[in-house]
Amino acid sequence: MSILYHDNSKIFHLYNDSISYIITVMRNGHLGQLYFGKKIHDKEDFSYLLETCERPMTSYIYENDRTFSLEHIRQEYPVFGSTDYRQPAIDIQQSNGSRISDFKYDSHKIIKGKPKLDGLPAIYTESEDEAETLAIILKDHVSKVCVELYYTIFITGGIVARSARLWNEGTSSVQIKRAMSLCLDLPDSDYEWVQLSGCWARECHIHKRNLEQGIQSIGSMRGNSSHEQNPFLVLKRQNTNERAGEAIGFSFIYSGNYKILAEVDAHETLRVLVGIDPETFEWKLESGASFQTPEAVMVYTAHGLNQMSQTFHKLYQKRLARGYWRDRARPILNNNWEATYFDFTEDRLIEIAAKAKECGVELFVLDDGWFGERSSDRAGLGDWTANKERLPNGITGLAERIEELGLKFGLWFEPEMVNKDSDFYREHPDWIISTPDRQISHGRYQYVLDFSRKEVVDAIYDQMAKILSEAKVSYIKWDMNRSITECYSKALPADRQGEVYHRYILGVYDLYERLTSQFPKVLFESCASGGGRFDAGMLYYAPQGWASDDSDAIERLKIQYGTSMCYPISSMGTHVSVVPNHQVFRNTPLHTRANVAYFGTFGYELDLNKLTEQELIEVKEQIAFMKKYREILQFGTFYRLKSPFEGNETVWMVVSEDQKTALVGWYRILNCVNASYTRVRLEGLNPQFCYHNLKTGRCHFGDELMHVGLITSDETAGQVPSDVTPYTDFESRIYVLEVAES
Ligand code: DGJ
Repeated sequence: MSILYHDNSKIFHLYNDSISYIITVMRNGHLGQLYFGKKIHDKEDFSYLLETCERPMTSYIYENDRTFSLEHIRQEYPVFGSTDYRQPAIDIQQSNGSRISDFKYDSHKIIKGKPKLDGLPAIYTESEDEAETLAIILKDHVSKVCVELYYTIFITGGIVARSARLWNEGTSSVQIKRAMSLCLDLPDSDYEWVQLSGCWARECHIHKRNLEQGIQSIGSMRGNSSHEQNPFLVLKRQNTNERAGEAIGFSFIYSGNYKILAEVDAHETLRVLVGIDPETFEWKLESGASFQTPEAVMVYTAHGLNQMSQTFHKLYQKRLARGYWRDRARPILNNNWEATYFDFTEDRLIEIAAKAKECGVELFVLDDGWFGERSSDRAGLGDWTANKERLPNGITGLAERIEELGLKFGLWFEPEMVNKDSDFYREHPDWIISTPDRQISHGRYQYVLDFSRKEVVDAIYDQMAKILSEAKVSYIKWDMNRSITECYSKALPADRQGEVYHRYILGVYDLYERLTSQFPKVLFESCASGGGRFDAGMLYYAPQGWASDDSDAIERLKIQYGTSMCYPISSMGTHVSVVPNHQVFRNTPLHTRANVAYFGTFGYELDLNKLTEQELIEVKEQIAFMKKYREILQFGTFYRLKSPFEGNETVWMVVSEDQKTALVGWYRILNCVNASYTRVRLEGLNPQFCYHNLKTGRCHFGDELMHVGLITSDETAGQVPSDVTPYTDFESRIYVLEVAES
């Protein structure tokens, strides 16, 4: 890995064994983008890559020159309003009302490792040798605003992490109207756009389309990154698939309003921008003050989408997630939400927990409904003390009883919210986000606390820290069940109202930071009505997140498949729930529910007392299976093999680091009569190793399984032999492949 600067040509070349990223200082002092892609040899001069020519209807920078227009040049951090008519990366309004700026190269430094981002989640390094960072300072000499652009490249892998810091050396304040984290200008637009979209209970479905001239974008203006559009984009070549071909993934390490856009211009060049949503953001930068953008990560691959995802998985598992639980297999839990909803007593919870313990569960989680006057969703949020009617011994007493059973205890919070029917609201009615003299909309009868205010965050912190200090709580599920409306903070002046959405998220990060550092062994699971804030920002604090409120195994195939495009298996909360399922009322076999949930953190979302003896035997086997293989399932190398978006079968697999164990998950939605023979070519095995298929008893070399394939046909395609149990709809199997130790 290296970052080189060629002084004569003013060219920076960042490279490692996989990628090259080449930037130049152009003759107007702005930064030009020359190349991003597969690694190429370094040389002194790549300036021929900066193509310019005379074009009609173009505005030019230099008086006697009809070639140099920013409109037709690929750039690193384009400004608004001077010859480039595309979307800018930066837009600052100055005291005279002008939005024109001219950010010219000032200086640069090459730093070992990676600097921290103050108050924001970001990729980190554990030693200085893992990565290098290029920091380039640009200055606008009229406004005296400076920008420092950061580019971190790792010793290996196609990763570049980007962010920008702005500061004001002038005497007047300026309004930042837009400060994107990443701009990438590419020489052609022959890419397919792949996004993860959906809605509540249908998160992260894969949607694709070709790029066209104009702007295509995803984003959120809800205050949370959203169920609708995950802050992640892939641009892939038309022929790129899971196994081969070129692609670039863009992920934003942020949990609030964002925008990811691609603009294709008239000459089919492409600009990608990633950053805080400019529509809902404005920031007053006082003289002497600074502003740090969140971080965006791009991953280039020349070898298919699986390789791109694996790069994100390892990066986010090892260098974004932090703390005690980062590398640890996750406890198998039983959550009471779908078992009881709001209808429980302490004894009823103990009954559920006791059965869970008998089956091998390790952690019992008490969900919504344990606090204040909460007997429905109309009251109680904000009052984080136990409801004495339901829990006469408080959380401390309940946690003790759970621990006596031999289980760990976990607890649900929704720290950012308040019901009007709560003591907290009655004491602080002005602490909610709402606009003076306007209607205040609710969502699920709840209101959003103004986390842009430190005193509000402090008050919630005090309540949560008290419970965590007094009771034996090992896990927290941090929920967030509505988006922001009528966004306004009573604590900020008029010219700072554009800051509220971002300051809100900074408040959320601050509370997470305080709690995770004060209680380092507590496992945090983020949640926002399922996957409403399942993003890379959250992973910095909570190494796992509840991927969706839809717990149906068949719906989960698409959700988990899509989510795996960017996020590691260890980050996905996955539970076995009852049938008929509570969201789609579908009946699926118990083994299929577990076979899907194994590819995640795994747990149960039901009352095991309600299962038959036969089912309980199966549950015990499932838990024993998960305990045996969870390190591999959660931290192995994951491959998508057949897509639920493309056919009746889904197949995915994980391979252990030593390649000696692989687990293949095979799922078929509807049964077929007189079906075709099916097989799937596996990935990531060692061609020399001989794998024992525990289901068939046969042995196969790795090359055989990767090139010939694993046979997945079944013997009950319409004519059922009497000694075989017929398969039905929603069938699935896990194939365990183990290298026989000789
Ligand atoms: C939404 C979450 O996603 C559910 O799992 C559950 O915790 C409910 N909220 C509780 O209100």
